[in-house]
Amino acid sequence: MSYVEKGDEMDYSKIKIPNHVAIILDGNGRWAQERGLTRSEGHQEGFNNLMKLTEHVFKTGVKVLSVYAFSTENFKRSKEEVDFLMNLFVDKFEEYAKKLKEINIKLVFSGGRGNPVRQDILDVIDKSEEMTKDCDGGIMNICFNYGSHLEMVEAFKEMHNDAINGKLDFNTINEDTIYHYLFQDLPPIDFLIRTSGELRLSNFMLYQASYAELYFPKTYFPAFDAAEFDKALIEYTKRDRRFGGINYEATNN
Ligand code: FPP
Repeated sequence: MSYVEKGDEMDYSKIKIPNHVAIILDGNGRWAQERGLTRSEGHQEGFNNLMKLTEHVFKTGVKVLSVYAFSTENFKRSKEEVDFLMNLFVDKFEEYAKKLKEINIKLVFSGGRGNPVRQDILDVIDKSEEMTKDCDGGIMNICFNYGSHLEMVEAFKEMHNDAINGKLDFNTINEDTIYHYLFQDLPPIDFLIRTSGELRLSNFMLYQASYAELYFPKTYFPAFDAAEFDKALIEYTKRDRRFGGINYEATNN
């Protein structure tokens, strides 16, 4: 089956659109190195690409997009690189939030708010969330100072506190209760993409990704454009999602 119409425009009516897409933004450094640029220039280009790609992803009909922008472990990088990323965030994020507001997308953040996250970063996070809080066309979830283990530890602590305070009855806990206690109460991930060819999840949304289809394109994130995303959607369309069961129609027996 061909998924592409004349003029290279994708025919989305033939495509399965995942409800929740998650992307591990990897390869900024290698993209820059191959072009004789600095790692910082790679991050700058990654950020520019994120701005463009976000709009396209929501245009295809995706309802939730999560991206791994900065992990709890990324603070181990050189001070120069961490400072560059933090300053980029402070300088550019409001512009990104404004763009999301124009296309009616709500911006939310997942991650720890404690040390070493700077106060000016927290201010931008709060301002951006506030600016888009009434948007209801989709959700953009930025994972920043994020780690799945940290998220689960925080969730267990909060559940424990709520149980002590009589707000939570331990006997009623189910899978949905746990989603509710994560940084954001989002639907499960349907399609998880990690750019740059690395084959790891690196502590990213492990609870939410339990039945996600995984896709590992070799393209570095700054070059992962709308056409690359459409290619990923074609791959997703071909996947047979069984959630541990059997698709009798597909097996024909
Ligand atoms: C991983 O590539 C990328 C990051 C650690 C940062 C991703 C950030 C952006 C795309 C910018 C948007 C986010 C903020 C915080 C402003 P890498 O550096 O590990 O690449 P490499 O593996 O090729 O070295």
